[in-house]
Amino acid sequence: MAKKTLTTRVAVSEPKTLRIGLIGYGFMGRAHANAIHQAGHFFSLNRRPVLQAVCGRSEDQLRAFAESWQVAHTETDWRKLVAREDIDAVDICTPNDSHMEIALACIKHGKMIMCEKPLALDGKQGETMVKAVEKAKLPNLVMYNYRFLPAVTLAKNIVAAGELGKIFHYRANFLQDWTISKDLPQGGTGLWRLDAKVAGSGVTGDLLAHCIDTARWINGDIVSVSAMTETFIKERVHTATGKKQAVKIDDACAFLARFENGSLAVFESTRYARGHKALYTFEINGEHKSLAWDLHDLNRLSYFDHSVSSDRRGWSSIHATDGDHPYAGKWWVPGLCLGYEHSFVHALAEFVQSLANPTAPRNYPDFRHALGTQFVCDAVLEAARTQRWIKVKRS
Ligand SMILES: NC(=O)c1ccc[n+]([C@@H]2O[C@H](COP(=O)([O-])OP(=O)(O)OC[C@H]3O[C@@H](n4cnc5c(N)ncnc54)[C@H](O)[C@@H]3O)[C@@H](O)[C@H]2O)c1
Repeated sequence: MAKKTLTTRVAVSEPKTLRIGLIGYGFMGRAHANAIHQAGHFFSLNRRPVLQAVCGRSEDQLRAFAESWQVAHTETDWRKLVAREDIDAVDICTPNDSHMEIALACIKHGKMIMCEKPLALDGKQGETMVKAVEKAKLPNLVMYNYRFLPAVTLAKNIVAAGELGKIFHYRANFLQDWTISKDLPQGGTGLWRLDAKVAGSGVTGDLLAHCIDTARWINGDIVSVSAMTETFIKERVHTATGKKQAVKIDDACAFLARFENGSLAVFESTRYARGHKALYTFEINGEHKSLAWDLHDLNRLSYFDHSVSSDRRGWSSIHATDGDHPYAGKWWVPGLCLGYEHSFVHALAEFVQSLANPTAPRNYPDFRHALGTQFVCDAVLEAARTQRWIKVKRS
């Protein structure tokens, strides 16, 4: 006899939506669109993020993006997007020189803000943004995404539990090699990072800002810095003028720092480390334990515990994919890896979760945290310029 089958209509309770307007459909536009699509499926959120509208300047590319990510509304002027009544939050994924202007317009229109890093071109702009967003009491997030990788959050939790004892050293690198050719122009789509007017700085604001954010989050405030920078290629053709112009960004930067907790740090970043595409690493050495992490093997945290008997003591490698590792339990079964893109999903989920309980401590970097990182970047550039130790301004 044929088995009886049943078709049931399931009553799906729809949480309230968080309607997001995304500005910029480039690298970060795609990373954020993916996070907006995924967050509500893997995290239990009281508001479901929805990509309501997207803004970009090229109509063709905008249409292709909107089709690919199923976005119902498009705008070619970001001013129109931030004014839309069907948007609750604006996601700023444009180059650094536009962050302040867009954020201030969002505040005027009462929108929550998710902003890419660095917060602004410099600390002065950042201060204006912090003042305005805090006065308006609007939720705000800055996408320092590396914090949200399970192995990095695990490092933070181990340090916060005091397991390392006194911390002596923090060292971090962010190495790339994509600007070595002298024929690479500066400015315009794709190469705005080489134009100081648009980027604010070179590797300091682009790459070291990530290292500084992670370091401050795990190891506390940085109080003073001494630095050197270099611009290896002094002139490049500007895409806007077709003429050779001075390159004003730092191609490489190395700096020493003192943390408030007494530990010492060495940071290095360059786009001239042949063979390295995006090698972000950090290591922390404490009295009892050391920790190390490497973006190329991002699910692992290297761990050294001096309390183990000397004949068994050595570096071990924690594969942070178990259900009790940060965020990992929200995804697959133990042992299966997460990737770069998940860090954005986790950041967004933390932000949305916090909306339900605005007075609880925030588990994500906001404008004020990002201003602290901006002040460190400013101090690093000033130290390199003046060849002096510089005290870092407090955010
Ligand atoms: N969190 C991270 O790991 C990470 C990684 C890369 C970039 N970023 C940051 O994200 C931001 C964007 O970088 P990206 O790599 O996505 O750059 P990108 O060049 O790939 O994309 C920038 C986008 O902004 C658009 N845009 C520029 N001006 C605009 C305007 N006036 N109106 C509307 N759209 C405009 C461009 O058309 C493009 O779509 C930067 O602030 C960068 O520092 C962060």
